[in-house]
Amino acid sequence: MTLRSAQWYAGDHRNAYIHRAWMRRGGPADAFDRPQIAIANTASDLTPCNAHLTEVAQSVKNGIYEAGGIPLELPVVSLGETQVRPTAMLWRNMAAMATEEVLRANPVDGVVLLGGCDKTIPSLLMAAASVDLPAVVVPGGPMLTGTFRGVPLGCGTDVWRLSEEVRAGSLSNEQFIRSESAMIRSRGHCNTMGTASTMALVAEALGTVVPGVAGTPAPDSRLLEAAHRTGGLAVELVTADRRPGTFLTKASFHNAIVTLAAIGGSTNAVVHLLAIAGRLGVDLTLDDFDRIGSGVPVLVDLQPAGRFLMDDFHRAGGLLAVLREVRDLLDPDARTVTGRPLVDYLDDAPIWDPEVIRSRTSPLLDHGGIAVLRGNLAPRGALIKPAAASPHLLKHRGRAVVFDSVEDFHARVDDPDLDVDADSVLVLRGCGPKGYPGMPEVANMPLPKKLLERGVRDMVRVCDGRMSGTAYGTVVLHVAPEAAAGGPLALVRTGDVINLDVEARRIDVEVPDEEWAARTPNDATTSGYANPRRGWERLYVDHVLQADTGADLDFLLGSSGSQVSRDSH
Ligand code: FES
Repeated sequence: MTLRSAQWYAGDHRNAYIHRAWMRRGGPADAFDRPQIAIANTASDLTPCNAHLTEVAQSVKNGIYEAGGIPLELPVVSLGETQVRPTAMLWRNMAAMATEEVLRANPVDGVVLLGGCDKTIPSLLMAAASVDLPAVVVPGGPMLTGTFRGVPLGCGTDVWRLSEEVRAGSLSNEQFIRSESAMIRSRGHCNTMGTASTMALVAEALGTVVPGVAGTPAPDSRLLEAAHRTGGLAVELVTADRRPGTFLTKASFHNAIVTLAAIGGSTNAVVHLLAIAGRLGVDLTLDDFDRIGSGVPVLVDLQPAGRFLMDDFHRAGGLLAVLREVRDLLDPDARTVTGRPLVDYLDDAPIWDPEVIRSRTSPLLDHGGIAVLRGNLAPRGALIKPAAASPHLLKHRGRAVVFDSVEDFHARVDDPDLDVDADSVLVLRGCGPKGYPGMPEVANMPLPKKLLERGVRDMVRVCDGRMSGTAYGTVVLHVAPEAAAGGPLALVRTGDVINLDVEARRIDVEVPDEEWAARTPNDATTSGYANPRRGWERLYVDHVLQADTGADLDFLLGSSGSQVSRDSH
Protein backbone atom coordinates (compact mmCIF):
# COMPACT_ATOMS: atom_id res chain seq x y z
CA MET A 1 0.00 0.00 0.00
CA THR A 2 1.33 3.43 -0.90
CA LEU A 3 0.89 5.98 1.84
CA ARG A 4 -0.38 9.49 1.08
CA SER A 5 2.61 10.83 2.99
CA ALA A 6 4.93 9.11 0.50
CA GLN A 7 4.10 11.97 -1.87
CA TRP A 8 6.19 14.11 0.47
CA TYR A 9 8.78 11.67 1.72
CA ALA A 10 9.50 8.99 -0.90
CA GLY A 11 12.37 9.25 -3.40
CA ASP A 12 15.84 10.71 -3.59
CA HIS A 13 15.02 14.02 -5.17
CA ARG A 14 15.62 17.41 -3.60
CA ASN A 15 12.07 18.06 -2.40
CA ALA A 16 11.75 14.69 -0.64
CA TYR A 17 15.13 15.44 0.98
CA ILE A 18 13.73 18.76 2.26
CA HIS A 19 10.51 17.23 3.59
CA ARG A 20 12.40 14.45 5.39
CA ALA A 21 15.30 16.52 6.70
CA TRP A 22 13.10 18.94 8.61
CA MET A 23 11.02 16.13 10.10
CA ARG A 24 13.79 13.70 11.13
CA ARG A 25 13.74 14.84 14.76
CA GLY A 26 15.77 11.81 15.84
CA GLY A 27 13.09 9.34 14.70
CA PRO A 28 13.76 5.75 13.60
CA ALA A 29 15.29 5.11 10.18
CA ASP A 30 12.02 3.81 8.73
CA ALA A 31 9.91 6.66 10.17
CA PHE A 32 8.96 7.96 6.73
CA ASP A 33 7.74 4.55 5.58
CA ARG A 34 5.19 4.34 8.40
CA PRO A 35 1.64 5.77 8.59
CA GLN A 36 1.81 9.40 9.69
CA ILE A 37 -1.05 9.98 12.12
CA ALA A 38 -2.00 13.51 13.10
CA ILE A 39 -3.57 14.14 16.48
CA ALA A 40 -5.86 17.13 15.92
CA ASN A 41 -5.81 18.53 19.43
CA THR A 42 -8.24 21.21 20.63
CA ALA A 43 -6.47 21.58 24.00
CA SER A 44 -6.26 25.22 24.99
CA ASP A 45 -6.02 27.21 28.18
CA LEU A 46 -8.92 29.27 26.84
CA THR A 47 -11.05 26.16 26.36
CA PRO A 48 -11.07 24.90 29.94
CA CYS A 49 -13.23 21.88 29.04
CA ASN A 50 -10.45 20.66 26.73
CA ALA A 51 -7.34 21.73 28.66
CA HIS A 52 -6.56 18.12 29.68
CA LEU A 53 -6.46 16.86 26.10
CA THR A 54 -2.68 17.22 25.92
CA GLU A 55 -2.42 14.39 28.45
CA VAL A 56 -4.93 12.39 26.42
CA ALA A 57 -2.84 13.09 23.30
CA GLN A 58 0.16 11.48 25.00
CA SER A 59 -1.77 8.23 25.41
CA VAL A 60 -2.89 8.43 21.78
CA LYS A 61 0.76 8.89 20.76
CA ASN A 62 1.81 5.83 22.71
CA GLY A 63 -0.87 3.78 20.97
CA ILE A 64 0.17 5.03 17.54
CA TYR A 65 3.85 4.22 18.14
CA GLU A 66 2.99 0.81 19.49
CA ALA A 67 0.97 0.01 16.35
CA GLY A 68 3.80 1.09 14.06
CA GLY A 69 2.69 4.60 13.16
CA ILE A 70 4.26 8.01 13.67
CA PRO A 71 2.19 10.38 15.86
CA LEU A 72 2.17 14.06 15.00
CA GLU A 73 0.40 16.37 17.41
CA LEU A 74 -1.40 19.16 15.58
CA PRO A 75 -2.93 21.98 17.62
CA VAL A 76 -6.11 23.10 15.84
CA VAL A 77 -8.60 25.91 16.40
CA SER A 78 -10.26 25.51 19.77
CA LEU A 79 -13.50 27.13 20.95
CA GLY A 80 -14.36 27.59 24.62
CA GLU A 81 -18.13 27.82 24.77
CA THR A 82 -18.28 30.07 27.81
CA GLN A 83 -15.52 32.43 26.69
CA VAL A 84 -15.81 33.08 22.97
CA ARG A 85 -17.84 36.09 21.81
CA PRO A 86 -20.23 36.79 20.26
CA THR A 87 -20.84 33.03 20.22
CA ALA A 88 -18.64 29.99 19.59
CA MET A 89 -21.07 28.98 16.83
CA LEU A 90 -19.81 31.89 14.70
CA TRP A 91 -16.43 30.16 14.64
CA ARG A 92 -17.52 26.50 14.23
CA ASN A 93 -17.29 26.64 10.45
CA MET A 94 -13.99 28.51 10.60
CA ALA A 95 -12.54 25.86 12.92
CA ALA A 96 -13.79 23.14 10.59
CA MET A 97 -12.36 24.86 7.53
CA ALA A 98 -8.98 25.49 9.16
CA THR A 99 -8.69 21.90 10.39
CA GLU A 100 -9.73 20.49 7.02
CA GLU A 101 -7.20 22.60 5.14
CA VAL A 102 -4.30 22.03 7.52
CA LEU A 103 -4.83 18.27 7.35
CA ARG A 104 -4.96 18.32 3.57
CA ALA A 105 -1.87 20.51 3.32
CA ASN A 106 0.32 18.27 5.46
CA PRO A 107 1.94 14.83 5.05
CA VAL A 108 -0.75 13.04 7.01
CA ASP A 109 -2.27 9.59 6.39
CA GLY A 110 -4.86 9.54 9.16
CA VAL A 111 -6.04 11.58 12.12
CA VAL A 112 -7.20 11.18 15.70
CA LEU A 113 -9.62 13.94 16.67
CA LEU A 114 -9.54 15.20 20.26
CA GLY A 115 -12.51 17.34 21.22
CA GLY A 116 -14.87 17.99 24.09
CA CYS A 117 -16.41 21.44 24.53
CA ASP A 118 -19.58 22.03 22.49
CA LYS A 119 -18.29 23.09 19.08
CA THR A 120 -15.06 21.13 19.05
CA ILE A 121 -16.33 17.66 18.15
CA PRO A 122 -18.72 19.05 15.49
CA SER A 123 -16.00 21.14 13.84
CA LEU A 124 -13.55 18.22 13.90
CA LEU A 125 -16.09 15.86 12.34
CA MET A 126 -17.01 18.40 9.65
CA ALA A 127 -13.31 18.74 8.84
CA ALA A 128 -12.75 14.98 8.80
CA ALA A 129 -15.74 14.49 6.49
CA SER A 130 -14.48 17.08 4.02
CA VAL A 131 -10.84 15.95 3.95
CA ASP A 132 -11.97 12.30 4.09
CA LEU A 133 -8.83 10.90 5.66
CA PRO A 134 -9.10 7.90 8.02
CA ALA A 135 -10.29 9.51 11.25
CA VAL A 136 -11.46 8.55 14.74
CA VAL A 137 -12.64 10.69 17.66
CA VAL A 138 -11.57 10.51 21.31
CA PRO A 139 -14.10 12.58 23.27
CA GLY A 140 -12.46 14.39 26.18
CA GLY A 141 -15.18 13.35 28.60
CA PRO A 142 -17.35 15.11 31.16
CA MET A 143 -16.20 16.58 34.46
CA LEU A 144 -16.99 15.02 37.83
CA THR A 145 -20.02 16.19 39.77
CA GLY A 146 -19.53 19.20 42.00
CA THR A 147 -21.78 19.89 44.99
CA PHE A 148 -23.01 23.04 46.70
CA ARG A 149 -24.61 22.90 50.13
CA GLY A 150 -24.63 19.10 49.81
CA VAL A 151 -26.53 19.07 46.53
CA PRO A 152 -25.05 18.09 43.14
CA LEU A 153 -24.59 20.94 40.69
CA GLY A 154 -25.25 20.50 36.99
CA CYS A 155 -23.09 22.96 35.12
CA GLY A 156 -25.07 25.20 32.88
CA THR A 157 -28.48 23.99 34.04
CA ASP A 158 -27.94 25.04 37.64
CA VAL A 159 -26.46 28.38 36.62
CA TRP A 160 -29.75 29.14 34.87
CA ARG A 161 -31.80 27.75 37.77
CA LEU A 162 -29.89 29.57 40.54
CA SER A 163 -29.87 32.87 38.66
CA GLU A 164 -33.64 32.61 38.19
CA GLU A 165 -33.96 31.99 41.95
CA VAL A 166 -32.02 35.19 42.61
CA ARG A 167 -34.32 37.12 40.27
CA ALA A 168 -37.36 35.54 41.92
CA GLY A 169 -36.00 36.57 45.34
CA SER A 170 -35.72 33.03 46.72
CA LEU A 171 -31.87 32.94 46.78
CA SER A 172 -29.50 35.67 47.95
CA ASN A 173 -26.93 37.01 45.53
CA GLU A 174 -24.23 36.13 48.07
CA GLN A 175 -25.26 32.46 48.04
CA PHE A 176 -25.39 32.53 44.25
CA ILE A 177 -21.81 33.82 44.03
CA ARG A 178 -20.66 31.25 46.61
CA SER A 179 -21.90 28.45 44.34
CA GLU A 180 -19.53 29.63 41.60
CA SER A 181 -16.44 27.91 42.97
CA ALA A 182 -18.32 24.60 43.25
CA MET A 183 -19.69 24.60 39.70
CA ILE A 184 -16.63 23.18 37.89
CA ARG A 185 -15.20 20.41 40.05
CA SER A 186 -12.65 18.86 37.72
CA ARG A 187 -11.22 18.74 34.24
CA GLY A 188 -13.68 17.85 31.49
CA HIS A 189 -16.71 19.31 29.75
CA CYS A 190 -20.12 20.16 31.19
CA ASN A 191 -21.61 17.29 33.15
CA THR A 192 -25.25 17.69 32.13
CA MET A 193 -26.79 16.25 28.97
CA GLY A 194 -25.84 19.51 27.28
CA THR A 195 -24.32 19.91 23.87
CA ALA A 196 -20.85 18.56 24.69
CA SER A 197 -22.18 15.35 26.27
CA THR A 198 -24.75 15.00 23.52
CA MET A 199 -22.23 15.42 20.71
CA ALA A 200 -19.78 12.94 22.27
CA LEU A 201 -22.54 10.31 22.52
CA VAL A 202 -23.95 11.13 19.11
CA ALA A 203 -20.45 10.89 17.61
CA GLU A 204 -20.23 7.38 19.05
CA ALA A 205 -23.67 6.49 17.70
CA LEU A 206 -22.59 7.77 14.28
CA GLY A 207 -19.72 5.31 14.49
CA THR A 208 -16.81 7.73 14.76
CA VAL A 209 -15.78 6.82 18.33
CA VAL A 210 -14.68 3.37 19.51
CA PRO A 211 -17.97 2.00 20.97
CA GLY A 212 -18.14 2.27 24.75
CA VAL A 213 -15.73 5.18 25.11
CA ALA A 214 -17.93 8.30 24.89
CA GLY A 215 -19.07 9.53 28.29
CA THR A 216 -16.01 8.26 30.15
CA PRO A 217 -15.32 11.05 32.67
CA ALA A 218 -12.31 13.19 31.86
CA PRO A 219 -10.34 12.33 35.04
CA ASP A 220 -11.05 8.56 34.70
CA SER A 221 -7.93 6.55 33.88
CA ARG A 222 -10.02 4.45 31.51
CA LEU A 223 -10.13 7.46 29.19
CA LEU A 224 -6.35 7.29 28.81
CA GLU A 225 -6.55 3.55 28.18
CA ALA A 226 -9.21 4.20 25.51
CA ALA A 227 -7.03 6.93 23.99
CA HIS A 228 -4.12 4.48 23.79
CA ARG A 229 -6.30 1.88 22.04
CA THR A 230 -7.71 4.48 19.67
CA GLY A 231 -4.21 5.54 18.67
CA GLY A 232 -3.53 1.95 17.63
CA LEU A 233 -6.81 1.80 15.74
CA ALA A 234 -5.89 4.93 13.77
CA VAL A 235 -2.92 3.09 12.28
CA GLU A 236 -5.20 0.19 11.31
CA LEU A 237 -7.62 2.62 9.68
CA VAL A 238 -4.91 3.77 7.30
CA THR A 239 -4.06 0.20 6.34
CA ALA A 240 -7.75 -0.60 5.83
CA ASP A 241 -8.39 2.74 4.06
CA ARG A 242 -11.42 3.20 6.32
CA ARG A 243 -12.33 6.85 5.75
CA PRO A 244 -15.48 8.67 6.94
CA GLY A 245 -16.83 8.56 3.39
CA THR A 246 -16.61 4.76 3.39
CA PHE A 247 -18.77 4.03 6.42
CA LEU A 248 -20.82 7.12 7.36
CA THR A 249 -24.17 6.69 5.62
CA LYS A 250 -27.78 7.69 6.14
CA ALA A 251 -28.02 4.62 8.39
CA SER A 252 -25.33 6.11 10.66
CA PHE A 253 -27.35 9.32 10.97
CA HIS A 254 -30.48 7.30 11.64
CA ASN A 255 -28.72 5.77 14.65
CA ALA A 256 -27.47 9.17 15.77
CA ILE A 257 -31.04 10.54 15.74
CA VAL A 258 -32.40 7.56 17.70
CA THR A 259 -29.61 8.16 20.21
CA LEU A 260 -30.30 11.89 20.41
CA ALA A 261 -33.90 11.13 21.33
CA ALA A 262 -33.18 8.30 23.78
CA ILE A 263 -30.64 10.36 25.74
CA GLY A 264 -32.84 13.48 25.70
CA GLY A 265 -29.98 15.32 24.00
CA SER A 266 -29.41 18.92 23.02
CA THR A 267 -31.25 20.68 20.18
CA ASN A 268 -27.83 21.88 19.03
CA ALA A 269 -27.14 18.38 17.76
CA VAL A 270 -29.63 19.06 14.95
CA VAL A 271 -27.56 21.82 13.34
CA HIS A 272 -24.34 19.91 13.89
CA LEU A 273 -25.58 16.63 12.42
CA LEU A 274 -27.09 18.45 9.43
CA ALA A 275 -23.76 20.19 8.86
CA ILE A 276 -21.74 16.95 9.10
CA ALA A 277 -24.17 15.22 6.73
CA GLY A 278 -23.83 18.16 4.34
CA ARG A 279 -20.08 17.60 4.21
CA LEU A 280 -20.58 13.91 3.44
CA GLY A 281 -23.29 14.41 0.85
CA VAL A 282 -25.71 12.38 2.98
CA ASP A 283 -29.30 13.39 2.29
CA LEU A 284 -30.35 14.26 5.85
CA THR A 285 -33.24 16.68 6.39
CA LEU A 286 -34.76 18.50 9.32
CA ASP A 287 -37.85 16.32 9.04
CA ASP A 288 -35.73 13.18 9.55
CA PHE A 289 -35.23 14.27 13.16
CA ASP A 290 -38.96 14.33 13.82
CA ARG A 291 -39.73 11.24 11.72
CA ILE A 292 -37.05 9.05 13.29
CA GLY A 293 -36.76 10.54 16.77
CA SER A 294 -40.28 11.34 17.90
CA GLY A 295 -41.33 7.77 18.59
CA VAL A 296 -38.21 7.01 20.62
CA PRO A 297 -38.62 6.95 24.41
CA VAL A 298 -36.37 9.07 26.61
CA LEU A 299 -34.44 6.61 28.75
CA VAL A 300 -31.85 8.82 30.41
CA ASP A 301 -32.75 10.78 33.54
CA LEU A 302 -30.14 13.51 33.22
CA GLN A 303 -30.30 17.27 33.68
CA PRO A 304 -31.62 19.46 32.12
CA ALA A 305 -34.67 17.24 31.44
CA GLY A 306 -34.09 15.02 34.50
CA ARG A 307 -32.09 14.59 37.68
CA PHE A 308 -28.67 13.00 37.27
CA LEU A 309 -25.33 13.95 35.71
CA MET A 310 -22.81 12.38 33.33
CA ASP A 311 -20.76 10.74 36.07
CA ASP A 312 -23.93 8.88 37.07
CA PHE A 313 -24.62 8.05 33.41
CA HIS A 314 -21.23 6.40 32.98
CA ARG A 315 -21.60 4.49 36.24
CA ALA A 316 -25.06 3.32 35.18
CA GLY A 317 -23.79 1.67 32.01
CA GLY A 318 -23.28 4.51 29.55
CA LEU A 319 -24.43 4.81 25.98
CA LEU A 320 -24.25 1.13 25.05
CA ALA A 321 -26.69 0.27 27.86
CA VAL A 322 -29.11 2.85 26.45
CA LEU A 323 -28.72 1.58 22.90
CA ARG A 324 -29.31 -2.01 23.94
CA GLU A 325 -32.79 -0.93 25.12
CA VAL A 326 -33.62 0.60 21.72
CA ARG A 327 -31.77 -1.95 19.63
CA ASP A 328 -34.83 -2.68 17.50
CA LEU A 329 -34.97 0.99 16.48
CA LEU A 330 -31.36 1.10 15.30
CA ASP A 331 -30.23 0.43 11.77
CA PRO A 332 -28.25 -2.82 12.01
CA ASP A 333 -26.28 -2.08 8.87
CA ALA A 334 -24.58 1.07 10.14
CA ARG A 335 -20.91 0.32 10.69
CA THR A 336 -18.51 1.98 13.05
CA VAL A 337 -14.92 3.08 12.70
CA THR A 338 -13.84 -0.36 13.95
CA GLY A 339 -15.37 -1.92 10.84
CA ARG A 340 -18.08 -3.67 12.87
CA PRO A 341 -21.75 -2.60 13.09
CA LEU A 342 -22.80 -0.56 16.10
CA VAL A 343 -25.33 -3.20 17.11
CA ASP A 344 -22.49 -5.75 17.51
CA TYR A 345 -21.49 -3.95 20.70
CA LEU A 346 -24.82 -4.21 22.47
CA ASP A 347 -24.94 -7.83 23.67
CA ASP A 348 -22.98 -7.21 26.85
CA ALA A 349 -24.23 -3.78 27.86
CA PRO A 350 -26.21 -4.04 31.10
CA ILE A 351 -27.91 -1.19 32.95
CA TRP A 352 -26.31 -0.96 36.39
CA ASP A 353 -28.54 1.76 37.79
CA PRO A 354 -32.12 1.75 36.44
CA GLU A 355 -32.82 5.11 38.09
CA VAL A 356 -30.32 6.82 35.78
CA ILE A 357 -30.80 4.71 32.66
CA ARG A 358 -34.35 3.48 32.40
CA SER A 359 -35.39 0.24 30.79
CA ARG A 360 -37.59 0.32 27.71
CA THR A 361 -40.54 -0.78 29.85
CA SER A 362 -40.18 2.13 32.25
CA PRO A 363 -39.01 5.14 30.25
CA LEU A 364 -38.63 8.64 31.61
CA LEU A 365 -40.90 9.77 28.76
CA ASP A 366 -42.73 7.66 26.19
CA HIS A 367 -41.83 9.97 23.34
CA GLY A 368 -38.69 12.05 23.12
CA GLY A 369 -36.93 13.59 20.23
CA ILE A 370 -37.25 16.98 18.70
CA ALA A 371 -40.45 18.21 17.10
CA VAL A 372 -40.12 20.11 13.83
CA LEU A 373 -42.72 22.87 13.53
CA ARG A 374 -43.83 24.73 10.45
CA GLY A 375 -46.30 27.51 9.83
CA ASN A 376 -46.49 31.08 8.63
CA LEU A 377 -43.93 32.02 11.28
CA ALA A 378 -41.41 29.35 10.25
CA PRO A 379 -41.91 28.27 6.63
CA ARG A 380 -38.64 26.29 6.58
CA GLY A 381 -39.01 24.94 10.06
CA ALA A 382 -38.41 25.54 13.74
CA LEU A 383 -37.63 23.17 16.60
CA ILE A 384 -39.00 22.47 20.03
CA LYS A 385 -37.82 19.85 22.48
CA PRO A 386 -41.04 18.61 24.09
CA ALA A 387 -39.14 16.80 26.88
CA ALA A 388 -37.72 20.11 28.12
CA ALA A 389 -41.03 21.99 27.78
CA SER A 390 -44.04 22.36 30.09
CA PRO A 391 -46.81 19.97 28.97
CA HIS A 392 -49.53 22.59 29.52
CA LEU A 393 -47.82 24.99 27.08
CA LEU A 394 -47.42 22.56 24.18
CA LYS A 395 -50.74 23.85 22.85
CA HIS A 396 -51.00 27.54 23.52
CA ARG A 397 -52.33 30.82 22.10
CA GLY A 398 -50.89 34.03 23.40
CA ARG A 399 -50.17 37.65 22.66
CA ALA A 400 -46.67 38.34 21.31
CA VAL A 401 -44.27 40.57 23.19
CA VAL A 402 -41.56 41.27 20.64
CA PHE A 403 -37.90 42.16 21.18
CA ASP A 404 -35.70 43.25 18.27
CA SER A 405 -32.39 42.22 19.79
CA VAL A 406 -30.84 40.71 22.91
CA GLU A 407 -30.00 44.25 24.05
CA ASP A 408 -33.61 45.32 23.57
CA PHE A 409 -34.71 42.27 25.55
CA HIS A 410 -32.38 42.94 28.48
CA ALA A 411 -33.31 46.62 28.54
CA ARG A 412 -37.04 45.97 28.82
CA VAL A 413 -37.73 42.49 30.20
CA ASP A 414 -37.72 43.53 33.86
CA ASP A 415 -39.48 46.85 33.32
CA PRO A 416 -42.43 46.79 35.74
CA ASP A 417 -44.50 48.54 33.07
CA LEU A 418 -43.83 45.91 30.38
CA ASP A 419 -47.23 44.75 29.15
CA VAL A 420 -46.72 41.02 29.65
CA ASP A 421 -48.51 38.22 31.49
CA ALA A 422 -48.03 34.49 31.93
CA ASP A 423 -49.94 33.76 28.72
CA SER A 424 -47.83 36.08 26.58
CA VAL A 425 -45.43 34.68 23.99
CA LEU A 426 -41.95 36.22 24.16
CA VAL A 427 -40.47 36.72 20.69
CA LEU A 428 -36.78 37.50 20.16
CA ARG A 429 -35.40 38.06 16.65
CA GLY A 430 -32.16 39.14 15.03
CA CYS A 431 -30.43 36.11 16.60
CA GLY A 432 -30.06 33.81 13.61
CA PRO A 433 -26.83 32.90 11.80
CA LYS A 434 -26.72 36.13 9.75
CA GLY A 435 -28.44 38.51 12.10
CA TYR A 436 -26.34 38.23 15.25
CA PRO A 437 -24.04 36.92 13.60
CA GLY A 438 -23.50 33.29 14.60
CA MET A 439 -26.83 32.15 16.06
CA PRO A 440 -26.15 32.48 19.80
CA GLU A 441 -27.77 30.52 22.62
CA VAL A 442 -30.26 33.16 23.68
CA ALA A 443 -33.59 31.56 22.79
CA ASN A 444 -34.28 30.48 26.38
CA MET A 445 -35.00 34.07 27.40
CA PRO A 446 -35.15 34.67 31.16
CA LEU A 447 -38.71 35.33 32.25
CA PRO A 448 -39.82 38.83 33.30
CA LYS A 449 -38.97 39.41 36.96
CA LYS A 450 -42.49 40.43 37.88
CA LEU A 451 -43.83 37.11 36.58
CA LEU A 452 -41.11 35.11 38.33
CA GLU A 453 -42.10 36.79 41.58
CA ARG A 454 -45.67 35.63 40.95
CA GLY A 455 -44.46 32.05 40.62
CA VAL A 456 -44.44 31.77 36.82
CA ARG A 457 -41.64 29.36 35.83
CA ASP A 458 -42.21 28.83 32.10
CA MET A 459 -43.65 30.71 29.13
CA VAL A 460 -43.72 30.11 25.40
CA ARG A 461 -40.71 31.72 23.78
CA VAL A 462 -39.94 31.99 20.05
CA CYS A 463 -36.53 32.86 18.59
CA ASP A 464 -34.37 32.46 15.49
CA GLY A 465 -31.36 31.69 17.69
CA ARG A 466 -30.36 28.53 19.54
CA MET A 467 -30.49 27.62 23.21
CA SER A 468 -27.89 26.01 25.39
CA GLY A 469 -28.16 22.26 25.59
CA THR A 470 -28.21 22.70 29.35
CA ALA A 471 -31.33 24.90 29.21
CA TYR A 472 -35.00 24.00 29.49
CA GLY A 473 -38.42 25.53 28.89
CA THR A 474 -41.10 25.81 26.20
CA VAL A 475 -38.83 27.34 23.62
CA VAL A 476 -39.43 27.37 19.87
CA LEU A 477 -36.02 27.93 18.35
CA HIS A 478 -33.94 27.74 15.14
CA VAL A 479 -36.80 29.53 13.34
CA ALA A 480 -36.00 29.45 9.62
CA PRO A 481 -35.62 31.57 7.70
CA GLU A 482 -34.33 33.90 10.41
CA ALA A 483 -35.56 37.51 10.53
CA ALA A 484 -32.34 38.86 8.99
CA ALA A 485 -32.68 36.49 6.03
CA GLY A 486 -36.16 37.75 5.17
CA GLY A 487 -38.03 35.37 7.45
CA PRO A 488 -41.54 36.27 8.62
CA LEU A 489 -40.35 36.51 12.23
CA ALA A 490 -39.27 40.04 11.24
CA LEU A 491 -42.92 40.99 10.64
CA VAL A 492 -44.44 40.02 13.98
CA ARG A 493 -45.62 42.90 16.16
CA THR A 494 -46.31 43.12 19.85
CA GLY A 495 -49.96 42.24 20.35
CA ASP A 496 -50.22 39.74 17.47
CA VAL A 497 -51.62 36.40 18.59
CA ILE A 498 -49.25 33.46 18.18
CA ASN A 499 -50.63 29.95 18.05
CA LEU A 500 -48.37 27.05 19.03
CA ASP A 501 -49.62 23.52 18.53
CA VAL A 502 -46.81 21.02 18.97
CA GLU A 503 -48.97 17.98 18.33
CA ALA A 504 -50.03 19.44 14.98
CA ARG A 505 -46.43 20.60 14.43
CA ARG A 506 -47.59 24.20 13.81
CA ILE A 507 -46.38 27.66 14.78
CA ASP A 508 -48.49 30.46 13.28
CA VAL A 509 -49.25 34.08 13.81
CA GLU A 510 -52.92 34.98 13.54
CA VAL A 511 -52.86 38.06 11.34
CA PRO A 512 -55.26 38.46 8.39
CA ASP A 513 -53.53 37.44 5.15
CA GLU A 514 -53.87 40.83 3.51
CA GLU A 515 -52.45 42.68 6.46
CA TRP A 516 -49.63 40.14 6.78
CA ALA A 517 -48.72 40.43 3.09
CA ALA A 518 -48.55 44.22 3.37
CA ARG A 519 -46.21 44.29 6.36
CA THR A 520 -42.50 45.16 6.10
CA PRO A 521 -39.87 45.00 8.84
CA ASN A 522 -39.47 48.25 10.71
CA ASP A 523 -36.19 50.13 11.10
CA ALA A 524 -35.76 49.12 14.74
CA THR A 525 -35.75 45.52 13.60
CA THR A 526 -33.39 45.76 10.65
CA SER A 527 -30.93 48.20 12.23
CA GLY A 528 -29.95 45.50 14.71
CA TYR A 529 -28.79 43.03 12.04
CA ALA A 530 -25.07 42.45 11.79
CA ASN A 531 -23.24 44.18 8.96
CA PRO A 532 -19.55 43.46 9.55
CA ARG A 533 -17.05 45.40 7.47
CA ARG A 534 -14.35 42.75 6.95
CA GLY A 535 -12.76 39.48 8.01
CA TRP A 536 -14.35 36.19 8.93
CA GLU A 537 -17.59 37.84 10.08
CA ARG A 538 -18.07 39.37 6.62
CA LEU A 539 -17.38 36.05 4.92
CA TYR A 540 -19.70 34.31 7.36
CA VAL A 541 -22.65 36.69 6.94
CA ASP A 542 -22.34 36.55 3.16
CA HIS A 543 -22.23 32.78 2.94
CA VAL A 544 -23.87 31.18 5.97
CA LEU A 545 -26.86 28.93 5.31
CA GLN A 546 -29.93 28.78 7.51
CA ALA A 547 -30.43 26.56 10.54
CA ASP A 548 -32.69 24.11 8.70
CA THR A 549 -29.70 22.87 6.71
CA GLY A 550 -27.04 23.10 9.43
CA ALA A 551 -25.80 26.71 9.25
CA ASP A 552 -22.67 25.75 7.32
CA LEU A 553 -21.15 28.09 4.73
CA ASP A 554 -22.47 27.49 1.22
CA PHE A 555 -19.00 26.94 -0.25
CA LEU A 556 -18.01 24.43 2.44
CA LEU A 557 -20.70 21.87 1.65
CA GLY A 558 -19.32 18.59 0.37
CA SER A 559 -15.79 17.26 0.32
CA SER A 560 -12.56 18.13 -1.43
CA GLY A 561 -10.99 14.85 -0.32
CA SER A 562 -7.39 14.32 0.62
CA GLN A 563 -5.87 15.07 -2.74
CA VAL A 564 -2.26 16.25 -2.45
CA SER A 565 -1.60 19.58 -4.09
CA ARG A 566 1.50 20.71 -6.03
CA ASP A 567 4.76 20.97 -4.10
CA SER A 568 5.96 24.06 -2.27
CA HIS A 569 9.44 24.34 -3.83
FE1 FES B 1 -17.46 23.53 27.52
FE2 FES B 1 -20.00 23.40 28.57
S1 FES B 1 -18.61 25.09 28.48
S2 FES B 1 -18.88 21.92 27.49
